[in-house]
Amino acid sequence: MPKHTDVIILGAGAAGLFCAARASQQGADVLVLDHANKAGKKILMSGGGRCNFTNYYVEPGNYLSHNPHFCKSALSRYTQWDFIDLVSRYGIPFHEKKDGQLFCDNKASDILNMLLDECAKGGARVQLNTDIHSVAQNDEGHFVLETSTGTLTSDALVVATGGPSIPTLGATGFGYELAEQFGHEVYPVRAALVPFTFTDRTGELCKVLSGTALPVSVSCGRQSFSDDLLFTHRGLSGPAMLQISSYWQSGDALNIDLLPATDVAAALQDARQQEPKKHLRNWLAAMTTQKFAEQWLEHQNIPDGPMGQVSREHASALASSLNSWQPKPSGTEGYRTAEVAIGGVNTDQLSSKTMASTLVAGLYFIGEVVDVTGHLGGFNFQWAWASAAAAAEAIAEAQS
Ligand code: FDA
Repeated sequence: MPKHTDVIILGAGAAGLFCAARASQQGADVLVLDHANKAGKKILMSGGGRCNFTNYYVEPGNYLSHNPHFCKSALSRYTQWDFIDLVSRYGIPFHEKKDGQLFCDNKASDILNMLLDECAKGGARVQLNTDIHSVAQNDEGHFVLETSTGTLTSDALVVATGGPSIPTLGATGFGYELAEQFGHEVYPVRAALVPFTFTDRTGELCKVLSGTALPVSVSCGRQSFSDDLLFTHRGLSGPAMLQISSYWQSGDALNIDLLPATDVAAALQDARQQEPKKHLRNWLAAMTTQKFAEQWLEHQNIPDGPMGQVSREHASALASSLNSWQPKPSGTEGYRTAEVAIGGVNTDQLSSKTMASTLVAGLYFIGEVVDVTGHLGGFNFQWAWASAAAAAEAIAEAQS
C-alpha cells in the first residue's frame, strides 16, 4: 500500500516550508518533498547570506504579473508585519538596510532554522533527496506520486518548486511542467533581477570601469528606478540594473541618468564661466570618480581640456550622454545568476484567496512558480510567505 498523507508539498524552499508549517499547525498531516540534499538553499544564499526576508513597504505595485490584482488578497491577509512578528518571536536580530528592506543581523540560516522549527512544531515532515518521477490523480481524486522513495498518495498537492534561476541550487522548471500536465496555462518565463551583458563598445567600457559604482536613475518603457549602478567586467549590475531588468525585453535600450541630481548642461555652462581653467576631466571626476571621468570622455570621443575651451557641441554631447545614456544590452546573465524568473503559472486559473487550481480539486500553486514576481528588496520572500499562508489556511480548512 502506498503511504498516504493529507497534504504533499513539492519543494522545501521558502514557500513550501512556510506552507508546511502553517498547514500542519492548523491540523493537517503534511509531507514536504524535495530533490535537493538540503532545504531552503536559496534562503541561505539570499541577501548576500543575510536574507532580505521582507520589506516595511509592501504594496501590490511592487509586483509584476499579467494580472496585477492577483497578489492583493494574499498580501493583505498575511502581511510583512505578520512575518516580522514571527521573526521577532524567535528573537532573530534584524535591521533595515534601506528603503524598508529587512535583513538578518547575523545569518540567513536564522530564517531557515525558524521555518524548520515551525514545521517541526506542527509535525510536518521534510523529506529531502527525493526525485519525483511522476504525478497523477486517481479516480478518487487522490494525487499519486511515483518517487525515488516509492509511491506516495495525498488528498492535496501543493506545487512550491520555485523558478529555474540558479540551477546549481536545485532549481528546475518542474512546477511549470506539472501545471501544464494538469491543464494550466504557463506564461513563458525569463530571467529577472539579473545583470545586463554587452558585446559592443559599451562592453569594453564596462570592463575597464569594472568595480565602479554610481547612484543613477534608470528607465525602460514607463518604469524607472533610482539606485546604484555597478560596472562589471561583463556589463552592468547593481540594484538599479537588477530592478529594471524585470521590465527589459530583448532589443530595448536603457535610459540611464548617470548624474540624476545634476542638470549637466546647466552645470557645464556655469563651470565654463566660473572655472574656465579647470580641466573637463577633473570637473567630471569631482562628481563621479577619476577613472570614470577619464574613460567616459574617451568613450564619448570628447577631448579633455580647460573648461573655457570646451566647444558647445562637445558640452551638449557630454550633457546628454551623462543625463541620458542609452546603452543597448546584448542580453542578461540569464538563470545562472538571476534572482528570480518572471512569468509562470497563469493566475487566471488560480484562486487569489487560496492559491487553489480552479481546474483540479486539491491542487495548489504557491511562491515563485506562480506568475507573480516582486521587485528587489524582500518582496519575493513576502510573496512566498503570503501565498503559502493563503494555501495553508484553505488546505487546513478542507482537511478539518
Ligand atoms: P524556492 O526556490 O525557494 O524553493 C523551491 C524548492 O523546490 C527548492 O528547494 C528546490 O530544490 C525544489 N525543487 C525544484 N525542482 C524540484 C523537483 N523537480 N523535484 C523536487 N524538488 C524540486 N528574495 C527576497 O525576497 N529577498 C532576497 O534577499 C533574495 N535574495 C536572493 C538571492 C539569490 C541568489 C536568489 C537566487 C534569489 C533571491 N531571492 C530573494 C528570491 C527568492 O529566493 C525566491 O523568490 C524564493 O526563494 C522563492 O521561493 P519558492 O519557495 O517559490 O522557491
